[in-house]
Amino acid sequence: MNQEFEPAILAFVCNWCTYTAADLAGTSRMVQQPNVRLVRMMCTGMVDPKYVIKALLSGADGVLVSGCHPGDCHYINGNYKARRRVKLLNEILPQFGIDQRRLCLTWVGASEGNEFAATVNNFINEIRELGPLDVRGMAAL
Ligand code: FES
Repeated sequence: MNQEFEPAILAFVCNWCTYTAADLAGTSRMVQQPNVRLVRMMCTGMVDPKYVIKALLSGADGVLVSGCHPGDCHYINGNYKARRRVKLLNEILPQFGIDQRRLCLTWVGASEGNEFAATVNNFINEIRELGPLDVRGMAAL
């Protein structure tokens, strides 16, 4: 394990569930590592695959996409769209030499602050194990 490396994680979270859970985790003073920057989206269905690729090419070592549980999306099927897009990205990223474990999709409900904190901490630890993402030269591909 690389002790020096502190991963930079970008998390696209849906306003209605995971963002609320993140807020709950914070107000409940749950222990979370400070490596994540949240991008609040109205729904995970709004997360264009380009956003994920751009994040990884721009310095993120890992990207988390998290929203409402299946069946709970406030826009009916946005999270199902997100799931399909992440599946597609999981096929594309290795072609660019990016380990697909650097992209994580989870469902965290509004009342699951503890689940959010655990998800974030586990993902950060996994990225820490993988080490920094070196994308030099990838933009030219
Ligand atoms: S509103 Fe939360 S995933 Fe769609």
